[in-house]
Amino acid sequence: MQFFVDTADLDAIAELNALGLVDGVTTNPSLIKKSGRDFKETIAEICGIVSGPVSAEVIAVDAQGMLQQGRKLAAIAHNVVVKLPLTLAGLQVCKTLSDEGTQTNVTLCFSANQALLAAKAGATYISPFIGRLDDIHVDGLDLIREIRTIYDNYMFNTQILAASIRGPLHVKECALIGADVMTAPPNVISALADHVLTAKGLEAFLADAKTAGITI
Ligand code: E4P
Repeated sequence: MQFFVDTADLDAIAELNALGLVDGVTTNPSLIKKSGRDFKETIAEICGIVSGPVSAEVIAVDAQGMLQQGRKLAAIAHNVVVKLPLTLAGLQVCKTLSDEGTQTNVTLCFSANQALLAAKAGATYISPFIGRLDDIHVDGLDLIREIRTIYDNYMFNTQILAASIRGPLHVKECALIGADVMTAPPNVISALADHVLTAKGLEAFLADAKTAGITI
């Protein structure tokens, strides 16, 4: 399973990248707003830190506008993935950009049929939003299961990028289901290493090492 970090915070990306935990980055306009920085400059800087795929989202809603913006974003760096909304126009642009050899991430996916359309449009990634479905009392993980089955049935190459992940349990379930990629905020990725027994065990080992006078 690949790990993408869902943030536009350069320090957080660099920190996780140094730990070897970043295969790619996803951003969206809300995350760019939160960073308080210029959009295209931020994407360029992220692409300088991370060699893997970096998703940058268009903000036009018509096909022509999305296509123009997508081409501009793709020109920022070789590892930019153009993020497009799951609308008919977004799917049309996805097909065009995919045919041109540009990587695409179709976002705001909330149903298996939407994911089916994205695969038919040649999307590199489909982003089903787990947490936002959970927020409206629909099991977001069921959507990941459905998409996995459909994509496997027809051997679609589109990768399932589980998004809107809210905690470690989502990550574990997505890994068990077989999502290709997950994207999560930095704090969720760091939290994957936490276990109360790890902390307690380490404390005891270090205390014993000190008492025994162990040196290395
Ligand atoms: C995915 O690409 C989105 O940026 C993100 O996962 C949305 O997550 P949220 O629902 O926590 O905003």
